[in-house]
Amino acid sequence: MEYVQTSRKGEIALRDLSKSFQISGRSLRVLRNVNLDIRSGECLAIVGASGSGKTTLLRILAGLEAADAGKVLIDSEPITGVGNERAVIFQEPRLLPWLTVLENVAFGLEVRGGDARHAKERARHYISLVGLAEFADAYPKQLSGGMAQRVGIARALTVQPEILLLDEPFGALDAMTKLTMQEELERIWRDENVTMVLVTHDLEEAIYLADRVLVLPKNKDGNPKTIEIDLARPRDRSETRFVQYRKDLFREFGLH
Ligand SMILES: Nc1ncnc2c1ncn2[C@@H]1O[C@H](COP(=O)(O)OP(=O)(O)OP(=O)(O)O)[C@@H](O)[C@H]1O
Ligand SMILES: [Mg+2]
Repeated sequence: MEYVQTSRKGEIALRDLSKSFQISGRSLRVLRNVNLDIRSGECLAIVGASGSGKTTLLRILAGLEAADAGKVLIDSEPITGVGNERAVIFQEPRLLPWLTVLENVAFGLEVRGGDARHAKERARHYISLVGLAEFADAYPKQLSGGMAQRVGIARALTVQPEILLLDEPFGALDAMTKLTMQEELERIWRDENVTMVLVTHDLEEAIYLADRVLVLPKNKDGNPKTIEIDLARPRDRSETRFVQYRKDLFREFGLH
Protein backbone atom coordinates (compact mmCIF):
# COMPACT_ATOMS: atom_id res chain seq x y z
CA MET A 1 0.00 0.00 0.00
CA GLU A 2 1.25 3.48 -0.83
CA TYR A 3 1.01 6.41 1.49
CA VAL A 4 1.53 9.47 -0.60
CA GLN A 5 3.02 12.43 1.19
CA THR A 6 1.85 15.74 -0.10
CA SER A 7 3.70 18.98 0.50
CA ARG A 8 5.97 17.45 3.10
CA LYS A 9 8.23 20.09 4.52
CA GLY A 10 9.61 19.92 8.04
CA GLU A 11 12.03 22.82 7.86
CA ILE A 12 13.20 24.02 11.27
CA ALA A 13 14.64 27.39 12.25
CA LEU A 14 16.06 28.11 15.70
CA ARG A 15 16.32 31.80 16.45
CA ASP A 16 18.30 33.10 19.42
CA LEU A 17 17.20 30.27 21.68
CA SER A 18 18.23 30.61 25.28
CA LYS A 19 17.36 28.50 28.27
CA SER A 20 18.37 28.56 31.91
CA PHE A 21 17.29 26.40 34.81
CA GLN A 22 17.09 27.40 38.46
CA ILE A 23 18.91 24.86 40.60
CA SER A 24 18.86 25.50 44.36
CA GLY A 25 18.63 29.25 43.94
CA ARG A 26 21.28 29.42 41.25
CA SER A 27 20.62 30.07 37.61
CA LEU A 28 22.23 27.55 35.30
CA ARG A 29 22.53 28.70 31.72
CA VAL A 30 22.08 25.70 29.44
CA LEU A 31 21.55 27.21 25.97
CA ARG A 32 22.76 30.61 24.90
CA ASN A 33 21.59 32.26 21.68
CA VAL A 34 21.38 29.12 19.60
CA ASN A 35 20.75 29.88 15.93
CA LEU A 36 20.37 27.15 13.38
CA ASP A 37 18.49 26.29 10.22
CA ILE A 38 17.67 22.64 9.61
CA ARG A 39 16.73 21.84 6.04
CA SER A 40 13.67 19.85 5.06
CA GLY A 41 14.69 16.20 4.96
CA GLU A 42 18.03 16.82 6.62
CA CYS A 43 19.44 14.56 9.31
CA LEU A 44 21.06 16.65 12.03
CA ALA A 45 22.86 14.98 14.93
CA ILE A 46 23.38 16.82 18.21
CA VAL A 47 26.39 15.80 20.28
CA GLY A 48 27.98 17.31 23.35
CA ALA A 49 29.21 16.44 26.81
CA SER A 50 26.76 15.18 29.41
CA GLY A 51 24.83 18.18 30.70
CA SER A 52 25.59 20.32 27.65
CA GLY A 53 21.88 20.72 26.89
CA LYS A 54 21.18 18.16 24.15
CA THR A 55 18.00 16.84 25.71
CA THR A 56 16.90 20.33 26.66
CA LEU A 57 17.28 21.49 23.06
CA LEU A 58 15.38 18.48 21.75
CA ARG A 59 12.59 18.98 24.29
CA ILE A 60 12.27 22.62 23.22
CA LEU A 61 12.01 21.46 19.59
CA ALA A 62 9.36 18.94 20.62
CA GLY A 63 7.42 21.67 22.43
CA LEU A 64 7.74 19.81 25.73
CA GLU A 65 9.82 22.59 27.23
CA ALA A 66 9.59 26.34 26.69
CA ALA A 67 12.65 28.45 25.90
CA ASP A 68 13.30 31.56 27.99
CA ALA A 69 14.03 33.59 24.89
CA GLY A 70 14.07 33.08 21.16
CA LYS A 71 11.86 30.87 19.09
CA VAL A 72 11.49 27.72 17.06
CA LEU A 73 9.90 28.05 13.63
CA ILE A 74 8.64 25.07 11.70
CA ASP A 75 7.96 25.80 8.06
CA SER A 76 8.13 29.47 9.03
CA GLU A 77 5.49 29.17 11.77
CA PRO A 78 6.50 29.65 15.42
CA ILE A 79 5.64 26.61 17.54
CA THR A 80 3.56 27.01 20.66
CA GLY A 81 3.81 23.51 22.11
CA VAL A 82 3.69 19.97 20.84
CA GLY A 83 2.39 19.46 17.31
CA ASN A 84 1.23 16.71 14.99
CA GLU A 85 4.03 17.43 12.52
CA ARG A 86 6.59 16.27 15.11
CA ALA A 87 7.11 12.86 16.71
CA VAL A 88 9.56 12.05 19.48
CA ILE A 89 11.45 8.81 20.05
CA PHE A 90 13.03 8.40 23.48
CA GLN A 91 15.74 6.08 24.71
CA GLU A 92 13.10 3.71 26.10
CA PRO A 93 10.18 2.98 23.77
CA ARG A 94 7.58 3.32 26.57
CA LEU A 95 5.17 0.75 25.15
CA LEU A 96 1.90 -0.04 26.87
CA PRO A 97 2.39 -3.59 28.23
CA TRP A 98 -1.27 -4.59 27.95
CA LEU A 99 -1.45 -3.77 24.23
CA THR A 100 -0.05 -5.83 21.37
CA VAL A 101 2.59 -4.44 19.01
CA LEU A 102 -0.14 -3.59 16.49
CA GLU A 103 -2.28 -1.87 19.12
CA ASN A 104 0.69 0.05 20.50
CA VAL A 105 1.66 1.31 17.07
CA ALA A 106 -1.91 2.24 16.10
CA PHE A 107 -2.51 3.90 19.46
CA GLY A 108 -0.76 7.17 18.64
CA LEU A 109 -2.92 7.68 15.60
CA GLU A 110 -6.12 6.64 17.36
CA VAL A 111 -5.60 9.14 20.20
CA ARG A 112 -5.14 11.80 17.57
CA GLY A 113 -8.66 11.04 16.48
CA GLY A 114 -7.95 8.69 13.60
CA ASP A 115 -10.40 6.04 12.50
CA ALA A 116 -9.41 2.78 14.25
CA ARG A 117 -9.46 0.54 11.18
CA HIS A 118 -7.43 2.99 9.15
CA ALA A 119 -5.01 3.43 12.08
CA LYS A 120 -4.42 -0.34 12.26
CA GLU A 121 -3.88 -0.55 8.52
CA ARG A 122 -1.29 2.16 8.59
CA ALA A 123 0.28 0.67 11.72
CA ARG A 124 0.73 -2.65 9.88
CA HIS A 125 2.52 -0.85 7.08
CA TYR A 126 5.07 0.67 9.47
CA ILE A 127 5.43 -2.52 11.51
CA SER A 128 6.47 -4.24 8.28
CA LEU A 129 8.80 -1.39 7.46
CA VAL A 130 10.71 -1.96 10.71
CA GLY A 131 10.78 -5.70 10.03
CA LEU A 132 8.32 -6.87 12.66
CA ALA A 133 5.37 -8.07 10.56
CA GLU A 134 5.45 -11.46 12.26
CA PHE A 135 5.28 -9.90 15.69
CA ALA A 136 2.24 -7.67 15.21
CA ASP A 137 0.24 -9.71 17.73
CA ALA A 138 3.04 -10.11 20.27
CA TYR A 139 3.08 -8.24 23.59
CA PRO A 140 5.95 -5.92 24.58
CA LYS A 141 7.32 -8.36 27.17
CA GLN A 142 7.81 -10.92 24.37
CA LEU A 143 10.20 -8.61 22.49
CA SER A 144 13.93 -8.00 22.76
CA GLY A 145 15.21 -4.47 23.47
CA GLY A 146 15.99 -3.81 19.83
CA MET A 147 12.59 -5.07 18.71
CA ALA A 148 10.83 -2.91 21.30
CA GLN A 149 12.75 0.12 20.08
CA ARG A 150 11.70 -0.71 16.50
CA VAL A 151 8.09 -0.72 17.68
CA GLY A 152 8.72 2.74 19.10
CA ILE A 153 10.02 3.87 15.72
CA ALA A 154 7.01 2.36 13.91
CA ARG A 155 4.68 4.10 16.35
CA ALA A 156 6.33 7.46 15.68
CA LEU A 157 6.23 6.95 11.90
CA THR A 158 2.58 5.89 11.88
CA VAL A 159 1.47 9.44 12.60
CA GLN A 160 3.49 10.43 9.50
CA PRO A 161 5.36 13.31 11.07
CA GLU A 162 7.39 15.78 9.03
CA ILE A 163 9.98 15.76 11.77
CA LEU A 164 11.39 12.91 13.86
CA LEU A 165 13.09 13.93 17.09
CA LEU A 166 15.22 11.21 18.69
CA ASP A 167 16.96 11.34 22.07
CA GLU A 168 19.64 8.64 22.28
CA PRO A 169 17.28 6.13 20.67
CA PHE A 170 19.83 3.31 20.70
CA GLY A 171 21.54 4.21 23.96
CA ALA A 172 20.17 1.19 25.80
CA LEU A 173 20.98 -1.37 23.09
CA ASP A 174 23.95 -3.69 22.82
CA ALA A 175 26.66 -2.79 20.32
CA MET A 176 25.62 -5.23 17.59
CA THR A 177 21.92 -4.39 17.72
CA LYS A 178 22.80 -0.74 17.71
CA LEU A 179 24.69 -1.02 14.41
CA THR A 180 21.77 -2.83 12.78
CA MET A 181 19.34 -0.23 14.09
CA GLN A 182 21.49 2.60 12.74
CA GLU A 183 21.37 1.01 9.31
CA GLU A 184 17.61 0.56 9.55
CA LEU A 185 17.07 4.11 10.70
CA GLU A 186 19.15 5.38 7.77
CA ARG A 187 17.00 3.42 5.33
CA ILE A 188 13.75 4.58 6.96
CA TRP A 189 14.90 8.19 6.99
CA ARG A 190 15.62 8.00 3.26
CA ASP A 191 12.38 6.17 2.39
CA GLU A 192 10.14 8.37 4.51
CA ASN A 193 11.85 11.61 3.63
CA VAL A 194 11.49 13.08 7.11
CA THR A 195 13.61 15.72 8.78
CA MET A 196 15.49 14.03 11.59
CA VAL A 197 17.11 15.52 14.68
CA LEU A 198 19.07 12.91 16.58
CA VAL A 199 20.65 13.43 19.99
CA THR A 200 23.44 10.96 20.60
CA HIS A 201 26.53 10.56 22.72
CA ASP A 202 27.87 8.12 20.15
CA LEU A 203 30.12 10.14 17.84
CA GLU A 204 30.38 7.36 15.27
CA GLU A 205 26.59 7.10 15.14
CA ALA A 206 26.46 10.84 14.47
CA ILE A 207 28.88 10.51 11.55
CA TYR A 208 27.12 7.45 10.19
CA LEU A 209 23.70 9.07 10.13
CA ALA A 210 23.97 12.83 9.94
CA ASP A 211 24.29 15.36 7.15
CA ARG A 212 25.55 17.77 9.79
CA VAL A 213 26.64 17.38 13.38
CA LEU A 214 25.92 20.12 15.90
CA VAL A 215 28.48 20.10 18.70
CA LEU A 216 27.19 21.82 21.83
CA PRO A 217 29.92 23.52 23.84
CA LYS A 218 30.75 22.24 27.30
CA ASN A 219 31.74 25.69 28.41
CA LYS A 220 28.57 27.80 28.40
CA ASP A 221 30.43 30.79 26.98
CA GLY A 222 31.42 28.76 23.95
CA ASN A 223 29.39 28.63 20.76
CA PRO A 224 27.83 25.58 19.16
CA LYS A 225 29.70 24.35 16.11
CA THR A 226 28.33 22.56 13.07
CA ILE A 227 30.31 20.05 11.08
CA GLU A 228 29.18 18.99 7.63
CA ILE A 229 29.55 15.26 6.95
CA ASP A 230 30.23 15.06 3.26
CA LEU A 231 30.17 11.29 2.68
CA ALA A 232 28.15 9.20 0.24
CA ARG A 233 25.47 6.86 1.66
CA PRO A 234 25.18 4.25 2.88
CA ARG A 235 28.36 5.05 4.73
CA ASP A 236 31.26 2.76 5.30
CA ARG A 237 32.63 3.05 8.83
CA SER A 238 36.06 1.78 7.85
CA GLU A 239 36.56 4.10 4.90
CA THR A 240 39.48 6.55 5.29
CA ARG A 241 37.36 9.70 5.19
CA PHE A 242 34.89 8.29 7.70
CA VAL A 243 37.75 7.50 10.03
CA GLN A 244 39.09 11.02 9.54
CA TYR A 245 35.73 12.56 10.49
CA ARG A 246 35.73 10.39 13.58
CA LYS A 247 39.21 11.54 14.55
CA ASP A 248 38.24 15.18 14.03
CA LEU A 249 35.08 14.84 16.08
CA PHE A 250 36.86 12.99 18.88
CA ARG A 251 39.38 15.81 18.97
CA GLU A 252 36.52 18.29 19.56
CA PHE A 253 36.08 16.48 22.88
CA GLY A 254 39.77 16.19 23.64
CA LEU A 255 39.70 12.47 22.87
CA HIS A 256 41.89 10.36 20.61
N1 LIG B 1 14.00 20.27 34.49
C1 LIG B 1 15.22 20.70 34.85
N2 LIG B 1 15.39 21.43 35.97
C2 LIG B 1 16.60 21.89 36.32
N3 LIG B 1 17.71 21.66 35.64
C3 LIG B 1 17.61 20.93 34.53
C4 LIG B 1 16.36 20.40 34.06
N4 LIG B 1 16.57 19.72 32.93
C5 LIG B 1 17.90 19.82 32.70
N5 LIG B 1 18.51 20.55 33.63
C6 LIG B 1 19.95 20.90 33.66
O1 LIG B 1 20.31 21.36 32.39
C7 LIG B 1 21.58 20.87 32.00
C8 LIG B 1 21.45 20.19 30.64
O2 LIG B 1 20.68 19.02 30.78
P1 LIG B 1 20.33 18.09 29.55
O3 LIG B 1 19.48 17.00 30.06
O4 LIG B 1 19.81 18.92 28.44
O5 LIG B 1 21.79 17.56 29.16
P2 LIG B 1 22.22 16.48 28.09
O6 LIG B 1 23.19 17.15 27.18
O7 LIG B 1 21.03 15.84 27.49
O8 LIG B 1 23.04 15.44 29.00
P3 LIG B 1 23.13 13.82 28.89
O9 LIG B 1 24.17 13.55 27.84
O10 LIG B 1 23.66 13.44 30.24
O11 LIG B 1 21.79 13.28 28.59
C9 LIG B 1 22.05 19.97 33.12
O12 LIG B 1 23.00 20.65 33.88
C10 LIG B 1 20.81 19.70 33.94
O13 LIG B 1 21.15 19.65 35.30
MG1 LIG C 1 20.21 13.89 27.53
